[in-house]
Amino acid sequence: MSSPIFEFARRYADSGVSRFHMPGHKGQVLHGLEPCDLTEIKGADYLYEPEGIIARSEENAAELFGTARTLYSTEGSSLCIKTMLAIAHRCRKDHSRRMLVMAPRNVHKAFINACILLDIDVRWVYPAAGSRSLCSSGFTVEDMVRTLFACPYKPDAVYVTSPDYLGNIADIPALSGFCRERDIPLIVDNAHGAYLRFLDEDIHPITLGADMCCDSAHKTLPCYTGGALLHISKNAPEGYGECAKNVMSLFASTSPSYLIMESIDLCMDMIGKDYRQRLAECVSRTELCKQRLNSAGWKTVGGEKCKITIAAAECGMNGDELGDRMREAFIEPEYTDPQYTVLMTTPFNSEEDYTRLEKLMTEIPAGKGERAIPDILPEAVVSMPIRKAAFSPSREVDVEDAEGLVCGLTVTSCQPSVPAVISGEVITADIIKILKRYGVLRVSVL
Ligand SMILES: Cc1ncc(COP(=O)(O)O)c(C=O)c1O
Repeated sequence: MSSPIFEFARRYADSGVSRFHMPGHKGQVLHGLEPCDLTEIKGADYLYEPEGIIARSEENAAELFGTARTLYSTEGSSLCIKTMLAIAHRCRKDHSRRMLVMAPRNVHKAFINACILLDIDVRWVYPAAGSRSLCSSGFTVEDMVRTLFACPYKPDAVYVTSPDYLGNIADIPALSGFCRERDIPLIVDNAHGAYLRFLDEDIHPITLGADMCCDSAHKTLPCYTGGALLHISKNAPEGYGECAKNVMSLFASTSPSYLIMESIDLCMDMIGKDYRQRLAECVSRTELCKQRLNSAGWKTVGGEKCKITIAAAECGMNGDELGDRMREAFIEPEYTDPQYTVLMTTPFNSEEDYTRLEKLMTEIPAGKGERAIPDILPEAVVSMPIRKAAFSPSREVDVEDAEGLVCGLTVTSCQPSVPAVISGEVITADIIKILKRYGVLRVSVL
């Protein structure tokens, strides 16, 4: 017998690699392990019916984020996303029609899973101009207005992903104005943006007018992997807060991890202390790092303060290859694809992490490459509802042989987990090109 997972983790922990990737604690020792791994014993409260310590801790979080209610998830934003859509489904005003959500296409797979489980129809928002990459959307409010006109009836929610994987932040104030004027709830996948609340200028989606959002605390805050928050705004429609716990328990394990809950709990406490100051220092150091990379000839893109997105292809290097060069220099990025190399910073990165990165990037000659070629996602040809296709009998074929067939189970690459083709859509030649670019070689077809 062996313990390969633990052995890998131990070796990685001992290696001294600079962690420019999730989770936010960057491997710093903040917490002991087994002694505190509990279950719902007397006094330890119940996550889905909290009255004691968990209720108090969630109230602390609600106060920190200025929400009506904040729920802990020990199963990431993935659980929060299903929960948010189920809440919107349950509390919508008109139940006589199928649930309809309007969303830009760069959704995480968890959104599609929620649509499958809840039998939701989606009207995709395609930007008239700008990026159509899998990772980012580039939509404007005008794109929303245009798409709204094309909807068969008023959608039950607008759902957006912001920040996206490349560090772009949507115009949430404009979007929330658009939604409020039309009385449509706004739901934000803020998995990458828990820290936005604590910047000098608070740009958290709840502050800017979203009705609900999820934050993967583990992605940008010092919290164990799996720790996430579901926020419900003080202005959210009636009934959201009241049903939220019951709805979340529909999808969740009955054994929530206490280690993860403790980690969120400690994280909230730390945020209440010196975190803001440390975050401000991290933002300055990240900005300086970007400037140094730019001086060395590397182009960085995206407005997010704690992401360094290197437009590698534009500087003459494949983003995946740049990621490999980083690994040789003991730097692990968060994400790479042929166009981009993405690094995430938090206050738990050390000065050595930054200097190691800066040294490497001045040693690699930046050149002149092609402007990034976006994936130009073609508008979907929908052949049947997402749920129906996902539950229909299907078989797997090579992508090369899939042209003209209907997608069975949604297809994503492991990262960024944004689907190029969704259950019920026709697989076209353009889609096949995108799938191959993201390393997806087999697809499920009906
Ligand atoms: C944009 C986005 N949304 C949602 C998720 C799911 O978050 P979690 O891993 O916390 O379940 C991810 C994960 O990478 C993500 O990138």
